[in-house]
Amino acid sequence: MGDATTAGRPETASPDLGKAGLRLEVDGAVATVTLDRPERRNAMTFDTWRGLAAIGRSLPADVRVVVLRGEGKCFSAGIDLGMFSGDGEGFSDGSDAAATDRFIAELQEGYTWLRRPDIVTVAAVHGHAIGGGFQLALACDIRVAADDARFCMKEPALGLVPDLTGTKPLVEIVGIGRALELCLTARTVLADEAARLGIAEIVVPRDGLDGAVRDLVASLLAVNPGAAVATKRLLWEAAENTLEEQCAAERREQIGRLREMFGN
Ligand code: ACO
Repeated sequence: MGDATTAGRPETASPDLGKAGLRLEVDGAVATVTLDRPERRNAMTFDTWRGLAAIGRSLPADVRVVVLRGEGKCFSAGIDLGMFSGDGEGFSDGSDAAATDRFIAELQEGYTWLRRPDIVTVAAVHGHAIGGGFQLALACDIRVAADDARFCMKEPALGLVPDLTGTKPLVEIVGIGRALELCLTARTVLADEAARLGIAEIVVPRDGLDGAVRDLVASLLAVNPGAAVATKRLLWEAAENTLEEQCAAERREQIGRLREMFGN
């Protein structure tokens, strides 16, 4: 997408993000995070996930929409397989359960901030979205897919479980039976099926991806900012709440909106 969401001069990405295989451009209310290791199909390292968490922590307060995209041929080939063979930092062997728990929790922070109600997050997916890449798309609020998109939850085939926050949204989106089928076969879901299953909200021809994301971002920004934050908060609560709790949440949020609108 590159300049798709940027009308002005983007802010410079920090050098640490470059090492993490990430690029960040902020232009007013829109931040674009690019997975930027195209020669490795945007494979992700521990630094990538820490870099994503750092972006979440340091996002300027006036950013309302965050777009995640991949440079080159695909969105992301998932975890950098080199890390299994000892490149980079290496894995914990799990023998210290508490330390490993903390370690994975730190990596998950790269994904959890994407649910924050003060921003709307959009994954622009083309080509492969595998493992941690698929989970990154699932962590976003809305997925726009090119017609060449290919989603695969590969972890079980490698002896692992998906642990980058993807199991909850996957089950919520496709249901437990389909989630089991997808994860335990590690099969690839093509764009058409992704649309049918609700994994992708929008599917467009590959050369229309940037334009579709640009249009979506413009529509998201056209909505009242306070109402957008309150509505996202409300919708995310809905799955966990009883009807009674959700009705109360609607009343609470509406009171906040009315007070703001009428200056009380
Ligand atoms: N980790 C490290 N390097 C990778 C990865 C990866 N996950 N994926 C691709 N690369 C590298 C390749 O080794 C290759 O390097 P080289 O040019 O030095 O040989 C380069 O990226 C290009 O890869 P190709 O396989 O040639 O690209 P192609 O477009 O034909 O295929 C595909 C892309 C399908 C993504 C393939 O590379 C692949 O299957 N990669 C592994 C995917 C995977 O198993 N990921 C782990 C998921 S589990 C998890 O994320 C926790």
